Amino acid sequence: MTATAADTPMIRMTGVDKFFGPLHVLKDIHLEVPRGQVVVVLGPSGSGKSTLCRTINRLEPVDSGVIEVDGQPLPAEGKALARLRADVGMVFQQFNLFAHKTIAENVMLAPVKVRKANKAEARRRALELLERVGIANQAEKYPAQLSGGQQQRAAIARALAMRPKVMLFDEPTSALDPEMVQEVLDVMTTLAADGMTMLVVTHEMGFARRAADRVVFMSEGEIVEDTAPGEFFDAPRSERAKDFLGKILTH
Ligand SMILES: Nc1ncnc2c1ncn2[C@@H]1O[C@H](COP(=O)(O)OP(=O)(O)OP(=O)(O)O)[C@@H](O)[C@H]1O
Ligand SMILES: [Mg+2]
Repeated sequence: MTATAADTPMIRMTGVDKFFGPLHVLKDIHLEVPRGQVVVVLGPSGSGKSTLCRTINRLEPVDSGVIEVDGQPLPAEGKALARLRADVGMVFQQFNLFAHKTIAENVMLAPVKVRKANKAEARRRALELLERVGIANQAEKYPAQLSGGQQQRAAIARALAMRPKVMLFDEPTSALDPEMVQEVLDVMTTLAADGMTMLVVTHEMGFARRAADRVVFMSEGEIVEDTAPGEFFDAPRSERAKDFLGKILTH
């Protein structure tokens, strides 16, 4: 069997620990995301959700344990690491678009620079991706001329331009005005329906219920529950999850 057999999980974390100085932020994490699955990560502030995401494309190195993407352990550095980063798309709360480049240029940038893609071809593909996220008509504008929701959709298109195997989202809608949240969630839902493997940190419980195959609940650096969304919301097992759900559903 090859390392990329269909049953190899797209993401596999085994016994992962991470410290920030004395602070034990990830505690013996075991997590598998099969290809095509959407896993939503929930948990209180400071529980380690962003850190978990960031270890998967090695923005944060881990202290022990193994992380594999598509059957390959994360490379520590060099070309192999650059390749891994291309395979793992990431979308943050802050869109981080280049202000002095147009939306199309933002989306073309990495394929041209990192993948040495032909410019015309990269541009054609950028426009295709902008079409896919519903902002083809914004291609020649600059980021500041777009709404937050449009900018975040551009950031998703930019991540997709590298043809990632998996997409990580860290609170992609938290910085948006409420009326723009849905348009970004809709793009994510379409991506999921098209079969993208996704790990999504979000406070959007409706999205978690509808789009997730699994919910992973974190508390104080641990995965406390890893279960189907219906089960998690309707019958959480741990006191910590009950407490968390009680707070978010009543505020
Ligand atoms: N670079 C860092 N250096 C030191 N401590 C850090 C660093 N990044 C995060 N932490 C700490 O690690 C813990 C986990 O942080 P993390 O950002 O992963 O939490 P989170 O679950 O994403 O929280 P939030 O919901 O507020 O985004 C927190 O206690 C945080 O203060
Ligand atoms: Mg966070």
